[in-house]
Order: sequence, then structure tokens, then C-alpha cells
Amino acid sequence: MSQLEFDQRLVQQLERLYTTRDVRRRRGLVRAALDARPGDRILDVGCGPGFYVTELLEAVGREGSVVGVDISADMLAVAAKRAAGHDNARFYEADATALPVPDASFERAVCVQVLEYVRDVPTALSEMHRALRPGGRVLVWDVDWATVSWHAIDQQLTRRVLAAWDNHLTHPSLPRTFAAQLRSAGFEDVRMDAHAFATTELIPDAYSGSLLPLLEQYVAEQGGMSQEEAKAWADEQRELGDRGEFFCTVTQFCFTATRRS
Ligand SMILES: C[S@@+](CC[C@H](N)C(=O)[O-])C[C@H]1O[C@@H](n2cnc3c(N)ncnc32)[C@H](O)[C@@H]1O
Repeated sequence: MSQLEFDQRLVQQLERLYTTRDVRRRRGLVRAALDARPGDRILDVGCGPGFYVTELLEAVGREGSVVGVDISADMLAVAAKRAAGHDNARFYEADATALPVPDASFERAVCVQVLEYVRDVPTALSEMHRALRPGGRVLVWDVDWATVSWHAIDQQLTRRVLAAWDNHLTHPSLPRTFAAQLRSAGFEDVRMDAHAFATTELIPDAYSGSLLPLLEQYVAEQGGMSQEEAKAWADEQRELGDRGEFFCTVTQFCFTATRRS
């Protein structure tokens, strides 16, 4: 069983997934909490396909800039294409634990659904702390996968699917320790908001609806379950959806904090 690989196939899947309603809602929540100002220099750690980079470029205007860092060259290629024509956007292929940026050079740092994949979270947080100027704001967002409540007829199979899915990342419940970890990294004024992504409709625009094909694929290919088991689980969910009996919720957590002035 192995962690998700952000290769070309997944890049294409995530690019589609990130245009759906709930992920757009998430970006709106992130932008509101980050509160970027014209002229800000923003660091996006684990920028993925670059949706935040392009949206934040709008917020900071010509006087500001956005730097995207990601470990996946495939992701960065898509992100750079998305930001084409903006000479105030830069991209670097690097690990979140070794950011190729100078000290104290950003007003904001954002890191959405990335640290749950990073083994050494304390080093990643201290790197963002180093990159921010005193008084700068960090925003980290991750999912606590233990908050998933998924209605099913075959509950045992669903429990096995969710247990297998826990292997797709390093930290399935990272938000539980974020407040303490942010303080240990030197941040102050740590705040948290919890956002439920809940739906009674199995539609691609809902977070769980867009994830279902990814779960089915991952648990069969890398999660240690058979194709038949994965398909049986997904088919049951599609049947529940057709009957108007679908229900799934998952809670995602937005933390903001400030580098001491
Ligand atoms: C779930 S995607 C989120 C992308 C983007 N933050 C968003 O929300 O639109 C996770 C991203 O984190 C990147 N990533 C994973 N581990 C990383 C690491 N150690 N350093 C930098 N980026 C990493 C992946 O390549 C991928 O682009």
C-alpha cells in the first residue's frame, strides 16, 4: 500500500475535480481567510495545478506576486500553463521541507491539502515561518479523514474501503495537532475554522461525489483491495444515489496563524 503519486494521470483527474462546486467553495473560504491585499507577495506551498496561484494573482494585482512550489513536475507544468502571461508568477520544483525562497520574503503563505502528504510536518511549518516576514500570515488547510460519515448498506465493506483510503497519505488526521504544531513552529494568534462538506446527492459537484471514482481506483490499485470489492462498494453507492438515499460528510479544517512581529 502506498501514498498517492501526483503523476500525469492524477494531475488530469485533480484538474477536473478542482473545477467542481465544493472545491470552488473551498477556494472561496481559503481566499477569505487568507485576506490577501494588493501588493502582497504570496507563497503557495504544494500549489498543485495552480488554481490558487491564478486567483491570488487577481487579488495582489500588478504590484504583488505569487510563488508556487510543488514537488511534482507534472503539477507544475499545468500550473505554469494556467498562469501563463503573468510575469509576477514564479514556480519552483521543491519539497515543502526545503523551500527555495529567501527568509522573510512573503506577506502570506498558503498550503491547502498538502501537509497531510508530507512526512516531516514540523520542518515544513518552520520553512513557511522562515519565508514569512514578521507579522505575515500562514494558512494551512487539511482534512481529518476520521470525520467521514458515509451511509452504506454494506457497512463492513465501507469501513474497509475507508481504512484502505487512509493509506493514500501520511497523516489521515493531521488537523488534530495543527494548533500545537503551528505554535511550536513559532506562530501566534492561531485560529481554526471547521467546514463540513456534506451532501445527500451523489453528483460530481459534491466533494464526496468527485472523490468516489478516485477512492474506487486507489483502493483497488494501491490500497490492497480487489477490483471486485472496490467496484461492489462504488456500485452500491451509485445505487443509493439513484434511489435518493446517498449521504456523505467530511470535515475540513482551516488554520491561520501569524509570524510574530
Ligand atoms: C491534493 S493536492 C493540493 C493542490 C493545491 N494545494 C490545491 O489545493 O489546489 C496536493 C499537492 O501537494 C503536492 N505535494 C505533496 N507532497 C509535497 C511535498 N513534500 N512538497 C511539496 N509539494 C508536495 C502534490 O504534488 C500536490 O500538487
